[in-house]
Amino acid sequence: MKLFVDTGSIKDIEAVAALGILDGVTTNPSLLAKEPGDFRQNLKRICDIVKGPVSGEVTATDVAGMLRQGREIAKIDDHMVVKVPLTRDGIRACKTLSGEGIRVNVTLVFSAAQAILAAKAGATFVSPFVGRLDDIATNGMDLIREIVDIYDNYEFATEVLVASCRHPIHIVEAARMGADICTCPPAVIDQMFNHPLTSIGLEKFLADWEKSQAARV
Ligand code: G3P
Repeated sequence: MKLFVDTGSIKDIEAVAALGILDGVTTNPSLLAKEPGDFRQNLKRICDIVKGPVSGEVTATDVAGMLRQGREIAKIDDHMVVKVPLTRDGIRACKTLSGEGIRVNVTLVFSAAQAILAAKAGATFVSPFVGRLDDIATNGMDLIREIVDIYDNYEFATEVLVASCRHPIHIVEAARMGADICTCPPAVIDQMFNHPLTSIGLEKFLADWEKSQAARV
C-alpha cells in the first residue's frame, strides 16, 4: 500500500519525506489556504521534494473553468495530479483531462455509486473521505470495502486513495481491504510509529547494554 501525506506544509512534507516511506502528497484548497506564498510555487516545491503524485485541486465549479485550471495545474510539474470534485462538471472535466493524458483525482466521494462514476470517467485516483463519514455516524471503512470490491469485479484501473484518515486504524483497515493508497495528515503518520512496548523495550536494551559496559571498565 502506498502512503501519501495530506498537507500543504513544506516543512511537514520535508520531515515525512526524510523518513523514506513517502509515496506522494495530496492537498486541497483548505490546506493550501493555510500556507503563505503563491500556491503554484508551493506545489512546484512539493514536487521537487517528493518524486511521486502530488494532487492540486481546482477551485472552479464549471467544466470550462475546471479544464482551464486543471491544464494549468498539470503544467506545474510532471508529478502533478489534478483534483476535481465529484459533481457533474467534475466528472466531465475528469473525462476530458484524462483523455489528454492528465492524471485526475476525483475527490469528495462519499458513496460507491459516486466511485463508479469516477472510474468510468477515467480517474487515476478516487478519494473517498472516511473520517468525514465517521463524523456523521456512518462507517467510512465500509465504503472502502464496497469500492475495492466493485473495482476488483470490473478490473477498473482507478486507484482507491483513502482520504480523510484520522488515525492509524483507518490505515490498517484500508491495507487489509486492499486499498491502493492512504493519505494522512503528518500527525497520523507520526502516530503509526508509536507503541509503548517499543519504547520500553528500547529503554531496557540500552540500560542493559550500559550496565554491562560499566561492569567491564
Ligand atoms: O484532502 C482530502 C481529505 O483528506 C480531507 O481530510 O480531515 O479534512 O476530512 P479531512
